[in-house]
Amino acid sequence: MQRTQPVYLDNAATTPVDPRVLEAMLPYLKGDFGNPASGAHVYGQTAARAVEQAREQVAALLNADKTEIAWTSGATESNNLAIKGAAFAHGKRKKHLVTVATEHKAVLDTMHWLETQGFAVTVIEPESNGLILLSKFAAALRNDTVLASVMLVNNEIGVIQDIAALGHICRQRGVLLHVDAAQATGKLPIDVASLPVDLMSLTAHKTYGPKGIGALYVRRNVAVECQMHGGGHERGLRSGTLPTHQIVGMGECFRLAQTALATEVPRIRAQRDRLWAALRDIDGVQLNGDFAARVAHNLNISVRRCDLPLSVVTDISISSASACIAGQASHVIAALGGELSATVMRVTLGRFNTDAEIDFAAQYLRGKITACRAQSNAMQRESRVIHPVT
Ligand SMILES: Cc1ncc(COP(=O)(O)O)c(C=O)c1O
Repeated sequence: MQRTQPVYLDNAATTPVDPRVLEAMLPYLKGDFGNPASGAHVYGQTAARAVEQAREQVAALLNADKTEIAWTSGATESNNLAIKGAAFAHGKRKKHLVTVATEHKAVLDTMHWLETQGFAVTVIEPESNGLILLSKFAAALRNDTVLASVMLVNNEIGVIQDIAALGHICRQRGVLLHVDAAQATGKLPIDVASLPVDLMSLTAHKTYGPKGIGALYVRRNVAVECQMHGGGHERGLRSGTLPTHQIVGMGECFRLAQTALATEVPRIRAQRDRLWAALRDIDGVQLNGDFAARVAHNLNISVRRCDLPLSVVTDISISSASACIAGQASHVIAALGGELSATVMRVTLGRFNTDAEIDFAAQYLRGKITACRAQSNAMQRESRVIHPVT
């Protein structure tokens, strides 16, 4: 079957904007264009009302208070603000930070930069299933640890860390916990009223909202030094004119995520499990990351002895990483101790994938992987033939 458009299965990279989100945003790109900081007139007041409604919608998804939500440009900025902001706010007395080798680069590189500013960083290695041992985490904390940063859902392998248990350890030791939840919103329930978490990074574009807008949850009374100086917006935490249309989009996509969670997750899980069932018996195929402690939409597999570049996987859009190819190396797969020569494929489903698309993808991928394995087996047999020297 020839398709006009590849099936989109890269929803961990970004999601399409839900049409309902676009509809909610449009008025703020047209007549309601006022600056939310212009409180003196109706244009500004209308925009400010929309911004505050969106703040309530974002807070509601986390069960937070709206005063604990600050707008940013996305999870990269939120991670920078949380980690640098907390380190500098508390860094006179405490100079040590803890994170995990499988974190997003926006966390790891921020941590490495802080090392150049006089901080020490401990990077914990996860177990081979991608999860962190609580005892290892507890042992990494020191008396001068200011903050630990652990993501809720991994962007490559989809594993879910036990944030409640990690947060409990942090509380006992007087350490702040920052959580990158960019990949978690709309994928599992989040309740910061019961989770011992101090800072949480959020973004809209992984949850059917627009790119370029995010937020940082800052628990009340947690000190964070601002990283963007200027007009003192967001109560001094992050200056810059608020992009009303983007903010409205984030509020709406988080509102929709909350209402969809109960039905969307089981439907996507059933599709993902059907896809995995179609691939799991192929010789050389192996799942990366724990299967049970994993979000419903993620499948990440390694295929041993198979060189399958993305350029030949044209009818479905997925992410691929081979740990051995320069520039494409996955630090996550490497941290799990995965086979470096294997082809790695990340397939991530989303709200708009149909059953027919998943069945097509299953058949298509099975065909590609089987052909690739057959070719590499034939090449191996050929290399074993001893040619007589003439
Ligand atoms: C876990 C995680 N953190 C942070 C980011 C960066 O988010 P943003 O694109 O909103 O800056 C991403 C997106 O790739 C992510 O998956």
